This record gives sequence, structure tokens and C-alpha cells, in this order.
Amino acid sequence: GPLEEMSLPLFFGWFLLSSVQDKVRCTSMDFLKTLDTLEAFKKHLSDFTGKAEKEVDLEQYFQAKGTLHCTTKFCDYGKAPGAKEYAQNTTVKELYGSAFELSLSALFVTPRTVGARVSLTEEQLLLWPADAEEEAGSTSLPRGSRAHITLGCAEHVEPVQTGLDLLEILTLQQEGQQGEPIEEMELGSLTYYGEGRWLLTLREPICTPACFSSFYG
Ligand code: A2P
Repeated sequence: GPLEEMSLPLFFGWFLLSSVQDKVRCTSMDFLKTLDTLEAFKKHLSDFTGKAEKEVDLEQYFQAKGTLHCTTKFCDYGKAPGAKEYAQNTTVKELYGSAFELSLSALFVTPRTVGARVSLTEEQLLLWPADAEEEAGSTSLPRGSRAHITLGCAEHVEPVQTGLDLLEILTLQQEGQQGEPIEEMELGSLTYYGEGRWLLTLREPICTPACFSSFYG
């Protein structure tokens, strides 16, 4: 019946404390603002605009969507494969509503999305679905590689793309592509991976409190 259909959320995940959300958003905005002014970025501007001479305001280019979180399992109200099994998992039930510290280890930008990479602890990995990476077509990356926070999406891009963009960069790294080191910024080191893919590895990871819960929408 309709009540049963409502019993599974749109997704499970870690939800950032609201005061920290503002801080993370500011850090992300500052990064976009700085990236925008770099000669190296301007050189590859056509990745974003399609036309070399056009300008782009990255802060306008990406639209923020909703509350900041790191999705563990997308359930689609029960329609997604494995949704019911995940919701019934003992660890998921046990840790539901508990507080965690998430570690954001990098920021990344592509022509489609901007996001933060989340480095999961062993305990946090217990809440990570076994097939999250495989589902996205990555079979050889370690579990948890896809963990991220979507900070913004370009027009007509769905947030699911952010994790795929992160996996794409990590796959290049795994294949031995070191990328082009661009410069040391205040926040960390910036690397270019071609096709508009930028990675800022944070010197100091951003630690943020987050509650493991679910979103119904
Ligand atoms: P993300 O976790 O990258 O932010 P939507 O608003 O499109 O329904 O998505 C709700 C949330 O679920 C978003 O956080 C989104 O992406 C995530 N999400 C949507 N579709 C999927 C999917 N197929 N696999 C994993 N996560 C998804």
C-alpha cells in the first residue's frame, strides 16, 4: 500500500551540521573565485564555454542544490536496487541518527559539477554500500572512492553526476596519470587532469560534524 511505499527514503546519508554547511560553501566559493582568475584556468576556458574567448563566472556557472550531505545509499523510495536490503542492514539501523566526523580531503571541479571528496573511516565504510563504485562502472577503485558532497551542478546536470566525475579523476590517477601540477594555493595543491577536470588536494582536510540519517523530500 501507499504507506509501505513511503517507508523507504529518497536516500540515506550524512547530513552536515548547518553551521558547518555555510563554512564549506564559503570555502568552495573562494576556491571557484580563485580558480576563475588563474591563467592556467583561462587557458583551458573552452572546456567550460566551448568557445575560447568567452568568459565564465564559475560562481554563477554552478547552482547549489539543497542541504549539504554525503549520500551513502540512493533508495529512490525503494525503487533503487538494494534499497530495502540497505535499510534493513543491522549497522544502518544501529547507527541511524548518530553523529560522525566527516573528513573532506579534496575539492574538484569539472564542466558539469563541483564537489568535495570525502575520505571515509573504517567505521564510516560500514555504512557504505558494497556496490556503490561498481554501480558507477568502476571495478578496481577502493570501496568508498565515490564518497563526496555535491557543492553545485551546471545547468541541466543532475547531482548524481558529481560522484561519477570524482570516480573519473580517481581512475585517471589509478591509471598513472599524474595530471598537470598547476600551483600551490593557500588551501592546497591544484592539479589539472584535462577536459576541464580540476582537483584541489587540501593541505588540511576539512573536518565536519554530520548526522547519519535519511531524506524523504
Ligand atoms: P549526490 O549524492 O551526488 O549529491 P535527486 O535530487 O537527483 O533525486 O538526488 C538526491 C540525492 O541522491 C543527491 O544527493 C544525488 O546525488 C543522489 N543520487 C541521485 N541519484 C543517484 C544514483 N543513481 N546513485 C547514487 N546517488 C544518487
